[in-house]
Amino acid sequence: MKITVVGTGYVGLVTGACLAQVGNHVLCIDVDARKVEQLSAGIVPIHEPGLPAIVQEGMAGDRLRFGTNIAAGVAHGDYLFIAVGTPPDEDGSADLRHVLAAAEAIGQHLDRYCVIINKSTVPVGTAQLVRQRIAAALQGRGVDIPFDVVSNPEFLKEGAAVEDFMKPDRIIIGADHPAAAERMRALYAPFNRNHDRLIVMDPPSAELSKYAANVMLATKISLMNELAGLAERMGADIEQVRRGIGADPRIGYAFIYPGCGYGGSCFPKDVRALEYSARQAGYAAPLLAAVEEVNNRQKRVLERKVVAELGEDLSPYTVALWGLSFKPNTDDMREAPSRVLLEGLWARGAQVRAYDPAAGAEARRIYGERADLQICEDPYAALEGADALVICTEWQLFRSPDFDRIRARLRRPLIVDGRNLYDPQAVRAAGFRYHAIGRP
Ligand code: UDX
Repeated sequence: MKITVVGTGYVGLVTGACLAQVGNHVLCIDVDARKVEQLSAGIVPIHEPGLPAIVQEGMAGDRLRFGTNIAAGVAHGDYLFIAVGTPPDEDGSADLRHVLAAAEAIGQHLDRYCVIINKSTVPVGTAQLVRQRIAAALQGRGVDIPFDVVSNPEFLKEGAAVEDFMKPDRIIIGADHPAAAERMRALYAPFNRNHDRLIVMDPPSAELSKYAANVMLATKISLMNELAGLAERMGADIEQVRRGIGADPRIGYAFIYPGCGYGGSCFPKDVRALEYSARQAGYAAPLLAAVEEVNNRQKRVLERKVVAELGEDLSPYTVALWGLSFKPNTDDMREAPSRVLLEGLWARGAQVRAYDPAAGAEARRIYGERADLQICEDPYAALEGADALVICTEWQLFRSPDFDRIRARLRRPLIVDGRNLYDPQAVRAAGFRYHAIGRP
């Protein structure tokens, strides 16, 4: 099949590369000429396991190409994916400018029936807006060309995006009529072999499903983090509580890990965007506001624990930080708890020595050269002369460290663990003061 993907960001690139991997001919379009040049040279600008290999394979097989010309994109694909960014506006609403510009451009160049697929995370009603935009452009040209607009939200996790695309647990198709849904079924057939994972619904329900999934997961995390705070104050251990409640299949073990708050490009943005949509609809959504508020508080919990040990003024101290990315296996620091911690520590005068297996360069890009930040190339080097080790991200590498080496490098034996990686008794037996999340 011939497929065009507009937008080579995270979602667009994974979508394009995976669709090419199963034999389709995919043209990915982006307005960023430099990025297109890079991609055309086989250079993948994001850190995503397995992605460079399938991009290069697709290109070598002549099934995957990149370009900047939207007219060529519309001419190529019978399926046109819109996978451009929807950055949040000041007020939290999703900015649809790029989505609507893509729709407009499609309307300007469409010359035969195509399925237009909304992949970007967009507010309920956007499929309708896209349809109107394309229809208006066609009308402006005085042509009458049939087309369908389908909503097909993505559920890719960073660090596992290729795997999630190749082996989806569900494929949501929001289509207005069965013929459009059938075309989507054909497109997704290679990813839908053993069980039927296609769930067809109307476009607004598909659009809301994406937000609903993310706010449901964010809510689980915030509730666990709130319970962790309670557990700490009541002498209970949230890790034991987690196992106790996860055993109930109605609750389940997934996404009930307490920590230093959720980050990333989806949860924070989507919770806020849905809150905004609720306000627009004149409907109170106090739970969404609370999920966000709890998360904001949680992102400060590590700083509070450091202050409880070292005092309000941290200017005499150096803090070692393990983990900068918002989660393991990515270099993404968008809305990462580490940023709130870093900025909080700096505001109190602390020096920070940080190590991350992937996000060091990203931290340098965000913060530039500054005297109070040292990015180290090795986890143990980050500990040299530090007064505490704080852990923000649960990279595998941090799970079983050499505690003797840690103690030998730290000025004081203090570990503040934002991901509950260790057995408190064992760490204390190794001679540390140890603070985790929700544990006595
Ligand atoms: C998420 C959704 O999982 C994905 O389906 C959607 O398409 C995009 O948003 P992602 O942002 O990549 O994916 O990361 P995810 O693995 O879901 O983690 C999000 C955040 O929640 C991370 O900061 C993580 O540390 C945190 N988290 C996750 C917890 O604090 N506790 C948990 O139990 C699970």
